[in-house]
Amino acid sequence: MGLPPAIAEAFARQAGFCRRLGAPLTAAVCEAAVLACDASSVTARTLAAWPGDPMADALMMRFTGGCNALVRAGRVPMLGALYPPAELPTVADLAAALRVLLADPALDAALAGWLAGPPQTNEVARSGVLMPGLMTIAAATGLPLRLFELGCSAGLNLALATFGYRFGDMAVGDPQSPVQLAPAWTGPLPPAAAVSVLSRRGTDISPLDVADPAVRERLMAYVWPDQPERVARAAAAIAVARADPPPIDRADAADWIEAHVAPAPGSVAVVYHSIAFQYFPAATKARIAAHLAGLAASAAAPVAWLRYEMDDASAARLPTLRLTLWRGGDAEDHLLARAHPHGSFLEWLA
Ligand SMILES: C[S@@+](CC[C@H](N)C(=O)[O-])C[C@H]1O[C@@H](n2cnc3c(N)ncnc32)[C@H](O)[C@@H]1O
Repeated sequence: MGLPPAIAEAFARQAGFCRRLGAPLTAAVCEAAVLACDASSVTARTLAAWPGDPMADALMMRFTGGCNALVRAGRVPMLGALYPPAELPTVADLAAALRVLLADPALDAALAGWLAGPPQTNEVARSGVLMPGLMTIAAATGLPLRLFELGCSAGLNLALATFGYRFGDMAVGDPQSPVQLAPAWTGPLPPAAAVSVLSRRGTDISPLDVADPAVRERLMAYVWPDQPERVARAAAAIAVARADPPPIDRADAADWIEAHVAPAPGSVAVVYHSIAFQYFPAATKARIAAHLAGLAASAAAPVAWLRYEMDDASAARLPTLRLTLWRGGDAEDHLLARAHPHGSFLEWLA
């Protein structure tokens, strides 16, 4: 007996999503899972008896992350032979390799273990969307920045001011950085303001410490293997974070912002976050907005709130980059950009 219709349907939907986001192998692994899973493996029985909403629980990403981890560790040669740099295999070939994996009790147990916990990612290409936002803040205020990131995961995007960028024909940042980002750009260019960072600090309810090899490998496992440039970027950003660890606290974003974020003369306090707000509890979201609006910002000590988040109001249904700036008068709201969820393209609107 195969997977129940609701679970099989969720794998099919995830496959469509992956294909639209340029991950055809990960899509095919989702489709192959439906063919390969019968009641004979712990993994399949766990999937079949899943008590929650498979989409909300990112069940398919748990499965594909586990497969990728086993491939990366060299534990499943038959499956690994079908992963990049090999040509895109057929779903039938992937299903055959998954059946071999699931028939091995140790590998089956290892894969089932990946189903137990939610994926946690940290997409460094989002710095390519956040950085022009920081340039806009620097241009508007003429001040150096103190950075505060909410939901920063492993803190890879806390190093954004050290990376190199190409925005259209504009070169920004350090051309020698191991992390070079060049989102496909449309629209006008951002203001060519130098970004000077006085301090940086982040928080996450469940921070990832890249000093731990198991954490690093887990982070890499969730990067879709059919996107080699993304895999290379993630590895480079992890190396940057290991060489200069970003300060990260373990705290709810609202508790943390109330304790840490206040205006300081001669600098802008910049609170930013990417694809994180949707995961915060409603009370946390409300407290963040209230705290920022309640700060006594002034022209000499402004406060900025930069957010690259899913935005239901957007006709394009893409994440948006929005900025609210307080500098004494009314809050100034700007819709700066629409961007791909992983930062691969950006339409600058400001
Ligand atoms: C999808 S990840 C995005 C991580 C990172 N911002 C990025 O763009 O790659 C969302 C992050 O929000 C964190 N998170 C969820 N609820 C939180 C909360 N209440 N306070 C702080 N962080 C939270 C999660 O642990 C996770 O690391």
